[in-house]
Amino acid sequence: MSKFQIFTPGEINSMRKAGKILRDCLLHTAKYVKPGITTLELDAIAEEFIRLHEGATPAFKGYRNYPFTLCTSVNDQCVHGLPSKRALKDGDIVALDCGVMVDRLYTDACISVGVGKVAPATETFLRESKAALDHAVAIIKPGVRIGDISSIIQTYVEGKGYSCMQALTGHGLGYSLHQFPDIPNLGKAGTGPVLPVNTVIAVEPITSMGEGAIRDEGDGWTISTKDGSLSAHYEHTVLVTEGGHEILA
Ligand code: MF3
Ligand code: CO
Repeated sequence: MSKFQIFTPGEINSMRKAGKILRDCLLHTAKYVKPGITTLELDAIAEEFIRLHEGATPAFKGYRNYPFTLCTSVNDQCVHGLPSKRALKDGDIVALDCGVMVDRLYTDACISVGVGKVAPATETFLRESKAALDHAVAIIKPGVRIGDISSIIQTYVEGKGYSCMQALTGHGLGYSLHQFPDIPNLGKAGTGPVLPVNTVIAVEPITSMGEGAIRDEGDGWTISTKDGSLSAHYEHTVLVTEGGHEILA
């Protein structure tokens, strides 16, 4: 589909319900992030949390045969890091990327978390990457162009001396996890499709402390920074409303 999907009040309620479970799941799972825990253990915690909620399922599991509830991207991994027996170490950073489905509708969100005590420069990098997402989401309302969102993310991230990963974008979502439009993390204000009311988009700056080029790790999923620099990922599922927007997850 190459146009925005517009959702009914009933569909919006389903996504709101899924999104609330997803937010709570990320906060719950993040509490367990500490040195020694494996990313597979975090995956089990997230899955158990979601399944406690009647009608909610882990949305990534089974998507293109993806076998897990979470993507856990550690350090220089940007996205789609596979949960494994890798134990997190003091000073690592890990992105917890998750989806929840209710009534066949997807929601998608991610937070990046420091493990134990991280370097001050790393902490600043995480904080500023999250701020880039918050600044971009803040402008969302009907009539805003996708390029307006991209431009805010790029300008903010580059202004702090970091990079956006050029090849990795946000997206529309609904009955598909990824649908029209792509939402690049680099771009020009005043360009691109115009947001209508009652559509839903996932905005997700994926940043690095170094360059914006990626490397495919060759396991079919994991994408890392080419230069080995640390990468962060924050993502919200956002509903466009009459008056502006509502963060669903
Ligand atoms: N948030 C990820 C994205 O938008 C979702 C990955 S789903 C998976 O690409 F199944 F690929 F893990
Ligand atoms: Co996404």
